[in-house]
Amino acid sequence: MPATVIVGAQWGDEGKGKIVDLLAQEADLVCRYQGGPNAGHTVVVGDETYKIRQIPTGLIAGKRCAIGAGCVVDPAVLIGELDEVESRGHPTSGYLFVSGNAHLVMPWHVALDGARERRLGNLQIGTTRRGIGPAYADKATRIGIRVQDLLDPKILRQKLQLAVAEKNVWLQRVYELEPFDVEAVVATQLGYAERLAPYVDDTSLRVDRALRDGERVLFEGAQGTLLDLDHGTYPFVTSSSPIAAGAAVSFGIGPGRIDEVLGVAKAYVTRVGEGPFPSEIEGPEHARVQEIGQEFGTVTGRERRCGWLDLVALRFAVRVNGITSLALTKLDVLSSFSELPICVRYRLPDGRETEDFPAHQSDFHHCRPVFDVLPGWESSIEDELPGGARAYVSFVEDALGVPVTLVGTGAAREHVLAFD
Ligand code: IMP
Repeated sequence: MPATVIVGAQWGDEGKGKIVDLLAQEADLVCRYQGGPNAGHTVVVGDETYKIRQIPTGLIAGKRCAIGAGCVVDPAVLIGELDEVESRGHPTSGYLFVSGNAHLVMPWHVALDGARERRLGNLQIGTTRRGIGPAYADKATRIGIRVQDLLDPKILRQKLQLAVAEKNVWLQRVYELEPFDVEAVVATQLGYAERLAPYVDDTSLRVDRALRDGERVLFEGAQGTLLDLDHGTYPFVTSSSPIAAGAAVSFGIGPGRIDEVLGVAKAYVTRVGEGPFPSEIEGPEHARVQEIGQEFGTVTGRERRCGWLDLVALRFAVRVNGITSLALTKLDVLSSFSELPICVRYRLPDGRETEDFPAHQSDFHHCRPVFDVLPGWESSIEDELPGGARAYVSFVEDALGVPVTLVGTGAAREHVLAFD
């Protein structure tokens, strides 16, 4: 793996944290390429469980890590996580490098995210309310505050004053919320700046040098393909580019320098927030999958909606990411079911059936799933995959034309089997 991207192949929460943690053992540099504290990665190492949002998972594995320009960084969250992992014995100085071009999530972004969702009512997106959309919006509008602004107190003060003056108008006049006190904001952010300044870096140059030196670089995506701003199920998406190409954009390297794209998919599907979900499970089996899989959000604690594995959506993920191999996680969650539906096609409103993900939103919103039903295996898969489980995985490989190389069989780091 000279340069490997690990990408979520569904709607996020595929178990990427665990796969990154596993592959990070063999990596030299682990690079988080988009999103911010909306991500929630759970890593279990021995008796220790880490729930992290902002830092790259590789830090837990003791690797050098980078946060790319395509990320948004909430300084308060980042500092909280740095303090936590340091107190649990993981050094961060000399291990974490944050792109000076990444944008900062400010307290008004969080306030506006919540206010907009409340205003949307029934039409809300179901965001994590961490300020992600408003922070990326300011970046696109070119009024954002960047990580490198932390290096110059004078510039930081100026930018904060400008931003607070503008955002307070929105907060007060549009959303009838309390304004921010500019001096209090400046004092807090200057404090953060002091703590974070040593981590600011030119991450494009760092990754370029690492690749030239033959180091193994892992690019870690957050969220998932169907939450991609351009290619996902808009508007029920996040505001960044989780697809594999996002890694090249975020770290400023040519796309040809990426060698492998490992897609991570659950053996079933989950989705948090609103939006259509064709293979969503109806009936009591929904609660069963949710309970066995412990499908409750790491960031928000929200219940995740659960569906049977959707090969139409997964085929789309293989296409838009250029996935070269797949990791199928949480297969153990399906072990007690006697029958396992897999969505193989969608039936469109006009009656046609398709294996390809609909390009038009109305087709996607109104399509119905067509299932093949595979027999379950009804036995433990911890040490070895029984015949039924192997057949389930082979069915996925045959349908997608992509090898499944890793299968997740439990929460701990060692509960992953190589599949061949
Ligand atoms: P935002 O990223 O907070 O703006 O939320 C936009 C959409 O992405 C919502 O449907 C969220 O539930 C979803 N989302 C954001 N981050 C994650 C994640 O890490 N896992 C799963 N869904 C996510």
